[in-house]
Amino acid sequence: MQHESPTSAPGLRVRAPQPTPNIAPPAPWNVEGYPTPTGPIGPEVYRARRQRLLAQMGTGVAVIFAAEQIGHGERQDLDFYYLTGLELEHGAALLLAPEHPDFKEQLFLRALDVEDNRWHGNRPLLGRGVELGAGFAKVKRMNLLAASITDAVLQSKERELVYLGPVVGYTSPIPRQLQVLRDVSARVLHSKLRDAHELLPRMRSVHDEHELAIMRRAVEITGGGFRAALRAARPGMNESALQAVFEAHFRAHGSHSNAYHPIVGAGLNTCVLHYNLNRREMRDGDLVLCDVGCEYEMYASDITRTFPVNGRFTPRQAEVYTVVLNAWKAAVAQVRPGATWQQLNDAARDVIDAAGFSDEYFHSVGHFVGLYVHDAGLQREPLRPGMVITIEPGVYIAREALGVRIEDDILVTEEGCEVLSSAIPREIEELEAVMAGRG
Ligand code: GLY
Ligand code: MN
Ligand code: MN
Repeated sequence: MQHESPTSAPGLRVRAPQPTPNIAPPAPWNVEGYPTPTGPIGPEVYRARRQRLLAQMGTGVAVIFAAEQIGHGERQDLDFYYLTGLELEHGAALLLAPEHPDFKEQLFLRALDVEDNRWHGNRPLLGRGVELGAGFAKVKRMNLLAASITDAVLQSKERELVYLGPVVGYTSPIPRQLQVLRDVSARVLHSKLRDAHELLPRMRSVHDEHELAIMRRAVEITGGGFRAALRAARPGMNESALQAVFEAHFRAHGSHSNAYHPIVGAGLNTCVLHYNLNRREMRDGDLVLCDVGCEYEMYASDITRTFPVNGRFTPRQAEVYTVVLNAWKAAVAQVRPGATWQQLNDAARDVIDAAGFSDEYFHSVGHFVGLYVHDAGLQREPLRPGMVITIEPGVYIAREALGVRIEDDILVTEEGCEVLSSAIPREIEELEAVMAGRG
């Protein structure tokens, strides 16, 4: 009997010869294996940001390290991300040297470990593909960083080492990039440190159209979560179950994580500013304070609404709520280019003081929002168009188990401001209508 060839055996197909494995050029980004911007913003936008930073540095040499670890709650270093878009490259560094004749910017990646590739996914050999994918003319391995910094400092006329921050308190560890600059300056004669820690916070706090598109979407997704939560809340429900309503909506709409640990607190928990156990049963007559925001493509949203668990404000709850809402409106009315944080704080404070709740309001009125919920920015400088800030006054009366905070994300525009979260119900009647299924 003649043996059947494998191809003729029923149900069995022979695999065609495979082409030699090759790395195709990235086109245009998000190619598996290449270190390349992960989000909707292309490498050319990050390159333009680096060029702006190089121009502002003017002279000298700066280094920015990526996070040592990413995942399990650790995110990329946000200055590194802002300048590269590389969300997933840990153990990397960026070298900026505006006076260097050949390479004003260089990217350094951690060593390639071919066995690790089988456990954590493919990372390619360095080459043109990596440089195109990352958007850098020069990509090297981290073992060359030390020599490259020294070379760049020697190319700087004044041998300047430029510190781009962060500035931390004396009890915090000395930031790695400051320590590295000091170590270099101890070894290169006549080199000196220059402080430029304000450059990146100033740049990062003014958002371009690409960032604003992402942030609008983040707020929109968070708004959907609030509508779902308003409809779902009822006496007897647990705070954690209400948190899950938000998160189910976020995950179903493209947000893979929260921008911060959510606060969902009812009754007395509305008065605990950083309450985050979120596990108490919500009772009839309670208010519930929900401070919840999704993260979308690395950008944060940060929204708070306070509403009655049973869907109807009591007269006292409505009275306190109205004071906070008026404080919110007074502060938002001040938001425009040139306004100072002091003016915003005073506007909310004046309303709350006049209502007799001075001691029940004990935090500041807001902060910058961006890649991080409390994002980089200089609160001692006036507001500028493109900034996104929160306005979030509150009144917390613990003896009555009655806390209210209202928080929105506000874009500073050329003319004044735009409340990005304006579609999320805020007025008492709007909240009650949505809870009653009418909105
Ligand atoms: N969710 C933190 C804050 O409101 O600042
Ligand atoms: Mn906030
Ligand atoms: Mn918040």
